[in-house]
Amino acid sequence: MKENIPILEMKNISKSFGPVRVLNGVDLTLNRGEVLGLIGENGAGKSTMIKIICGIHKKDSGEIFYNGEKIEIESVAHSQQLGISTIYQELSLMPDLNAAQNIFLNRELNKKGNNLVAPLNSVEMGKKAQQILKDELHINIPVDRPLKYMTLAQKQMVEIARTIYADAQVIIMDEPTSALGAEEREQLFNVIRGLKEKGRSVIFISHHLDEIMKVCDRISVLRDGKKVADDLVRQFTIERIINEMVGKSLQSQYPKESVELGKPILSIHKLTKKGAFEDISFELREGEILGVVGLEGCGKNEVIRSIFGRLPYDSGDIIKNGKKLKIRSVKDAMVTKIAFVPAERKVDGLFLKQNIAWNTTIASLDKIIKYKTLVSKKESTVTNGYIAQLNIKAESSNQSISALSGGNQQKVMLSRWIMMNPDVFLLEEPTRGIDVNAKTEVYRAIGECVKQKKGVIVVSSEEEEVIGICDRIIVMRNGKISGVLDAKKTNTSEIKRYSLKSEV
Ligand SMILES: Nc1ncnc2c1ncn2[C@@H]1O[C@H](COP(=O)(O)OP(=O)(O)OP(=O)(O)O)[C@@H](O)[C@H]1O
Ligand SMILES: [Mg+2]
Repeated sequence: MKENIPILEMKNISKSFGPVRVLNGVDLTLNRGEVLGLIGENGAGKSTMIKIICGIHKKDSGEIFYNGEKIEIESVAHSQQLGISTIYQELSLMPDLNAAQNIFLNRELNKKGNNLVAPLNSVEMGKKAQQILKDELHINIPVDRPLKYMTLAQKQMVEIARTIYADAQVIIMDEPTSALGAEEREQLFNVIRGLKEKGRSVIFISHHLDEIMKVCDRISVLRDGKKVADDLVRQFTIERIINEMVGKSLQSQYPKESVELGKPILSIHKLTKKGAFEDISFELREGEILGVVGLEGCGKNEVIRSIFGRLPYDSGDIIKNGKKLKIRSVKDAMVTKIAFVPAERKVDGLFLKQNIAWNTTIASLDKIIKYKTLVSKKESTVTNGYIAQLNIKAESSNQSISALSGGNQQKVMLSRWIMMNPDVFLLEEPTRGIDVNAKTEVYRAIGECVKQKKGVIVVSSEEEEVIGICDRIIVMRNGKISGVLDAKKTNTSEIKRYSLKSEV
């Protein structure tokens, strides 16, 4: 049996932000050649723990040992020098530089050894970059392509190649898969297995418990800033993980309201956008939750973006309540009471300098303004309602949105749109980055919307989620609808079949 040699040990770590204690005496051990899954609900303290390891935050108390030696991590640069590398969700690469230049950033090779004024040896860097990507990671990415033209998955691989070149011993991935498609996830798991074989150690954070079970050797569970469980993966079941995370067992992950469907609210007729999607027709009825699924690049995201006026379409009609709409801009869509919650919430809608109340109410100011004055009491009452409904972990509605954990920021975005009270919700990956328990709350909130005769379209890469909450599921492939399935009667393998080939 392999002996466990710790590379990183965190002992009794505590951390507060102002009066709020976020980590409370947490122990965490990472062994050599091990993949450790770090899990917990939104706001449990996972990212804070990671930020202490990579030098962004300073711990208040506790001890850190690296290779058996007690250390203080002074800064991000210091953490990197020690051989610790973090792959953030918001990647830290340079979009205008190509893959090779990014891999060698700040560690460039030049033509005369380490002579700083010698010209850079781009040929050598290109070759070496190619070798890392191809031979070590087994992936094909053109090394001379600027990062801005790459998919997120490719950028992530470049970032991993960077850590390999830097010879990082500890590689931390904070929710690396949340924006990846199924195939790209598999590719990442293979890369993680490869890193492990090389004796590197990985800390892997994810809300996808099935992934955790698949790639991790050991699991540490945080709940409210404390470590509540730590064991080998084989000692866990998904149920046990959820119990540990939440402190109670989850009843039904997919609460589904039975709502009688009413008349069609939205009809899409032969909607076409060259190069993105073609001949898309479907109807959404009052009280209906309609899922749209398909592999990356199938056109599903483009379709709802066109319905919302984000992406101009070439031909076809959008008909709402019997009236043909001319949606040319986001404003048009909002006036017609269509709401869109995008997947990339951080880039796409949060005002990071403002507080929770501001972010919640910004799209519905008419509801909290009286005689042209913002009624702040009303603003906070409304916001507190959503904080309670969606179980948003926050100090108060005054707290800055940037101090919330990732998952809680997303819940604020969702409350903004619920407050707008639209007729049609277009939700893109509504539970991305949201923990299992909070997912159920989001599903409940969606259920409440359809009870009020609204229509909801959910574009999602989580097949089980759409099966669990939707009435019907549209499967897209290569820009066209390849199947329309009854959610009650279908399963993930049928969805996969329709996503992969057109004639089934
Ligand atoms: N800079 C900060 N100032 C104040 N509070 C903060 C700050 N950063 C984090 N917090 C608080 O610390 C708690 C833990 O946050 P953290 O980001 O570690 O959670 P997490 O487990 O990563 O959650 P998620 O799954 O949502 O990403 C949260 O309640 C958050 O509001
Ligand atoms: Mg986090």
